[in-house]
Amino acid sequence: MGSIVWGKDIAEVYDMTYAAKFDPSNLGPIVRVLAQLARGGAVLEFAVGTGRIALPLRAQGVQVHGIELSPHMVEQLRTKPGAESVPVTIGDMTTTRVRGVFTLVYLVANTIMNVTTQDEQLAVFANAAAHLESGGCFVVEVMVPALRRVAPGEVSRVFTLEADHVGIETFDDAVGQIASSHHWIAVGGRLVRHSAPYRYVWPSELELMGRIAGFRLRARWAGWDRTPFTSDSVSQVAVFEKVP
Ligand SMILES: C[S@@+](CC[C@H](N)C(=O)[O-])C[C@H]1O[C@@H](n2cnc3c(N)ncnc32)[C@H](O)[C@@H]1O
Repeated sequence: MGSIVWGKDIAEVYDMTYAAKFDPSNLGPIVRVLAQLARGGAVLEFAVGTGRIALPLRAQGVQVHGIELSPHMVEQLRTKPGAESVPVTIGDMTTTRVRGVFTLVYLVANTIMNVTTQDEQLAVFANAAAHLESGGCFVVEVMVPALRRVAPGEVSRVFTLEADHVGIETFDDAVGQIASSHHWIAVGGRLVRHSAPYRYVWPSELELMGRIAGFRLRARWAGWDRTPFTSDSVSQVAVFEKVP
């Protein structure tokens, strides 16, 4: 299963669908953590999307470059103020190289899961390491697999139930760790239907992938406010440091 290019339909409604994620109260802590880890150097966002993080980070004076698979998502980014100072390379974060050495590479919003095999997820780590200076950081934000929230005997759960957005995930293949998220989104008088498979990653597996790619886990938080990651955490922000 290869990478899936997000289409025009989902690109056009991404910002409206995830409006809460664009709220300054949500973005503020993320941008603060990333700017601090950048230590004044250039940073690279894998899967930059419509620039939700890259643009406010750039506005803080950080040099940001993006890699993004979907030209449609980048088209949305290009309509925004400040976009001209965020260069984006269209390509797959498993293999695409951009020029330069970075102090920080980051991959947020569960997007490591959009890469649907373990080997390719490992390739994302290797690619991050290849772009980083020694001691540089790779930050990964990803959910903890929600299998504990699926009722016994069931293989699906509703994760969003709102008037304008219904989201259901199905756990399709426990061996390959493949699930699918299915969305029905009402926006601007249209009903957009979007389904995509993803590969969930266990916290211990993420740490091991980092180690295989030459990182050590410097910190792991439950969120961008740096609260400790525990057995009850539903998400993690993992900070990997490239071992000299
Ligand atoms: C959930 S969005 C996140 C976008 C942005 N980082 C944000 O936080 O809003 C996931 C993005 O990953 C991109 N993507 C998926 N697979 C990719 C890959 N293999 N390489 C680069 N980008 C990819 C999609 O096109 C989409 O723009």
